[in-house]
Amino acid sequence: MEYRELAEGVKIPLLGLGTWGIGGRDTADRSRDEAEIRAIRRGIELGMTHIDTAEYYGAGHCEELVGAAIEPYERRDLFVTTKVWRNHLRHDDLIASMEGSLRRLGLEYVDLYLVHWPNPEVPLGETMGALERCAHEGFTRFIGVSNFPSALLAEAQSHLREHRFVADQVEYSLEEQEPASGLLPFCRRNGVTLIAYTPLAKGRLARPGNAVLDVLAEKYGRTRAQVSLNWLIGQEGVVAIPKASDPLHLEENLGALGWRLSEGDSRRLAESFA
Ligand SMILES: NC(=O)c1ccc[n+]([C@@H]2O[C@H](COP(=O)([O-])OP(=O)(O)OC[C@H]3O[C@@H](n4cnc5c(N)ncnc54)[C@H](OP(=O)(O)O)[C@@H]3O)[C@@H](O)[C@H]2O)c1
Repeated sequence: MEYRELAEGVKIPLLGLGTWGIGGRDTADRSRDEAEIRAIRRGIELGMTHIDTAEYYGAGHCEELVGAAIEPYERRDLFVTTKVWRNHLRHDDLIASMEGSLRRLGLEYVDLYLVHWPNPEVPLGETMGALERCAHEGFTRFIGVSNFPSALLAEAQSHLREHRFVADQVEYSLEEQEPASGLLPFCRRNGVTLIAYTPLAKGRLARPGNAVLDVLAEKYGRTRAQVSLNWLIGQEGVVAIPKASDPLHLEENLGALGWRLSEGDSRRLAESFA
């Protein structure tokens, strides 16, 4: 595994584990629990020790499965991220969400707690106060946001008193390159890691369809998925969290590590999707 510094003395893997769809989507689905637990453990054993979940996923069941999967591992070897849903951003609701997530995960603390989506109906200062309280109480080591554009990230940060954001989790891939122009430079200037979600465009990037991607896969002797993930993690300040329940996908994605696209190829690839 390769790592990137998230905060002083704390590194996270360039490739983590996404979990959307595990344990259901908008509602709980218990039909694949055992296979999903096995897949999460396989990912951890391959070094994908940053596990990304959310209270929303599977109406909480995803967190329960992550909790069951990580139970045999040393807590300090894992980096667990979860998120508070947008209708729980009032102070007391957020604290209750945090406590619910910890209970489902079977943890005393998470590593990173994110506001999943902004909600203009709740004053930002109130949400930030609650988020800081979670850090202050030791429920989470770090705090951050998700789906916040740079202006809102700056505004939210201005409400923080004792802590700073370490991450903004946003959609970023060859198919969705918008963060490259505004958010990513802002994050770099402010020491905020960009966690790229949907990095494989839901698996579309693994399929034929872009001639430059096909040529580069051939040139580097890698698969389309590996080249697509390499394009992301080769960028300063970026880590990615592909989701893969298929053990073959997990192993394949690991092949995005240990090498780099040249600068010219990286640019050509980005332009071919623009
Ligand atoms: N903060 C947010 O609002 C937000 C929004 C969306 C996602 N996320 C997070 O980001 C994670 C990743 O995003 P995502 O799940 O939307 O999409 P994704 O990671 O781009 O794609 C996941 C899909 O790609 C397939 N796949 C994985 N590796 C593959 C490979 N090597 N070859 C072919 N197919 C492959 C998976 O199949 P199998 O499962 O069958 O292996 C799955 O169907 C989520 O799981 C979630 O944790 C956060």
